[in-house]
Amino acid sequence: MDCSHRGSNCRGLAVSVFPLLVIVHALAATVWTGGHLVLDLRVLPRALRAKSAAQVRAFEETFEPLGLTALAIQVLTGMWMGWIYLPGFQGLFSPANPIGMLVGVKLLLLASTAAPD
Ligand code: HEM
Repeated sequence: MDCSHRGSNCRGLAVSVFPLLVIVHALAATVWTGGHLVLDLRVLPRALRAKSAAQVRAFEETFEPLGLTALAIQVLTGMWMGWIYLPGFQGLFSPANPIGMLVGVKLLLLASTAAPD
């Protein structure tokens, strides 16, 4: 299949795969944010009352494999959708391209949540 130009069959594939990417992306977002809601609203207040970092670490150990898998799925599906919207990531952070600006800001926000261990 020749994917080297716009309008090729690959473009058609990209269009049909998009709804699937959005669904998987949004489902992974619920896992990632849901886990953090449990951390913020249940685990953290109890751990603070008990002054116990061990409770936070225990939650982290349980949630991490699921949460990081969900985050990795989000990054993969998100980049894929970004590539479909902005082939070659052209227009990222461009004020002339609202989608490029939104995806760029989102990448910065995601990067701002990363903390060294
Ligand atoms: C590399 C990181 C990411 C990229 C490149 C990315 C990219 C995108 C793109 C292009 C869309 C638009 C889809 C559409 O047109 O419908 C989108 C939607 C969305 N993203 Fe991300 N995303 C990333 C990470 C995340 C993260 C970390 C979260 C939340 C924790 C998240 C949550 C969502 C949600 C809730 C939507 C709306 C889905 C819908 O349309 O129903 N994304 N993302």
